[in-house]
Amino acid sequence: MSETTTTTLYDRLGRRDGITRITRELIKNHLGNPLVQTRYAQIKDMDKTERNVVDFFCVGSGGPNNYTGQDMLNTHRGMNISEQEFVSVLDDAMAALETCGVEAPVRNEVLGVLWSMKPEVVRV
Ligand code: HEM
Repeated sequence: MSETTTTTLYDRLGRRDGITRITRELIKNHLGNPLVQTRYAQIKDMDKTERNVVDFFCVGSGGPNNYTGQDMLNTHRGMNISEQEFVSVLDDAMAALETCGVEAPVRNEVLGVLWSMKPEVVRV
């Protein structure tokens, strides 16, 4: 049996420590990405948002559930996020995973999970 079938995605991402590193890299990428940087530059309490994103990725990948942020629809409602911005944020995520040494099959797994949330993020 391969390891993939016996561990959760949470484990494969390096558990909370790994997910924290990935999230920091992700936020750094967003702030340097001309297609989305203005969206993230206006966040008032980035520490809180970072913590919420880490918690969200932990529970979403099969780890413990400490998430106290809003659901994806309520978080992004009214922002009028475009398809281009959505793809650009996914590109930032893929780059962050690669920088953090996450292998391609696991990156693709994350891509699938993120893509599935498109209806709750784009033009809501
Ligand atoms: C699958 C894709 C996405 C996921 C999983 C996601 C996830 C999240 C999460 C977990 C939060 C924190 C919620 C909270 O603090 O209550 C958040 C906040 C935020 N997201 Fe997304 N997001 C996605 C796509 C996008 C896109 C495409 C944009 C715009 C380019 C965007 C812009 C924002 C902004 C600006 C905030 C901060 C809102 C605030 O001021 O608190 N997100 N997102």
